[in-house]
Amino acid sequence: VPAAIPPLKAAPFPVGTAFKTDHIADPAWVALARTHISQLTPEWEMKMEYILADGLARPRFDGPDRLAAWAKAEGLPMHGHTLIWYAQGEEAFTGLDNAAFDRAFDGYIATVAGRYRGIARSWDVVNEPILDDGSGLRDCHWSRRYGQDGYILRAFEKAQAADPDAILFLNDYNLEGIPAKGTQYLKLVERLLKAGCPLQGLGTQSHLWIDMPDGVIAAFIRELAQFGLPIHVSELDVTLRTDNPLDLRSIAERMARQVDRVTELAEAFVALPAAQRFAFTVWGLRDTDSWYRQGEKDDGKDRPLPFDGAGNANPMAVVLSRAF
Ligand code: XIL
Repeated sequence: VPAAIPPLKAAPFPVGTAFKTDHIADPAWVALARTHISQLTPEWEMKMEYILADGLARPRFDGPDRLAAWAKAEGLPMHGHTLIWYAQGEEAFTGLDNAAFDRAFDGYIATVAGRYRGIARSWDVVNEPILDDGSGLRDCHWSRRYGQDGYILRAFEKAQAADPDAILFLNDYNLEGIPAKGTQYLKLVERLLKAGCPLQGLGTQSHLWIDMPDGVIAAFIRELAQFGLPIHVSELDVTLRTDNPLDLRSIAERMARQVDRVTELAEAFVALPAAQRFAFTVWGLRDTDSWYRQGEKDDGKDRPLPFDGAGNANPMAVVLSRAF
């Protein structure tokens, strides 16, 4: 018997999920989303890797347009994800001279953010700029042209020009679990604000893991809140997997740890001043929708999301509904 839970979207802040065009064609997903969700983040099709798959000269908007049209038809705000990411666009930008690179960089942001004006209430303007060990910022094809803070500043300025009404976010992961990375993120935010960057919101992806020490999640959310900006828990999931091949804990034991992590995060988020609770977004609704359950990452067992493959509430959904 599925655990019946109240709609998550009854929360006093937007509750989001990642979504793809496959999902909106799946009636079971649509029913679940209509019950629980009040905001949408494109999981893949609004990324540069998709839009510039055929090169700079032939941008593809079929996928992202379908997602945007669906969000609009459902009356749900969309959180745009993502304009500039170290991991994407290198190929499309290779071989350009400086002037052509600048035109392409500025033009991409103007075109994409401009196209979804009025549908995207917000954007992840820059995704994942911090090095994994927290020792600094990533070196990438954007930073090699504009500098490590420079590409971020430029991207935010162009995004603001393209859609002056959108709330502009920085977004990164492992900020709670790797203290040096969290600290580096806070330092970057401070520098950007000092430099006059139109940074208006702080995204923490929250791809969590079960064995994070108690308290680190709540502590980071409190630090993040000190800037007074809106905060987005932007990509929550909690994998049950660990790196230890000798870890023999059962799924039930792992899910108990998972629930503790999610409770800590949800309670820390709910405790924020209302104006700072931008949205709380899960990186998919059903375990089977998770990026951990696709392709070579899939072990067929991971349960990282609030609902099971049949749409029944997992313990994670139950604790979210209680906390909200
Ligand atoms: C992932 C998606 O879930 C996958 O479907 C896609 O193939 C690759 O990207 N951080 C991010 C997200 O900001 O965009 C990533 O999403 C997960 C990690």
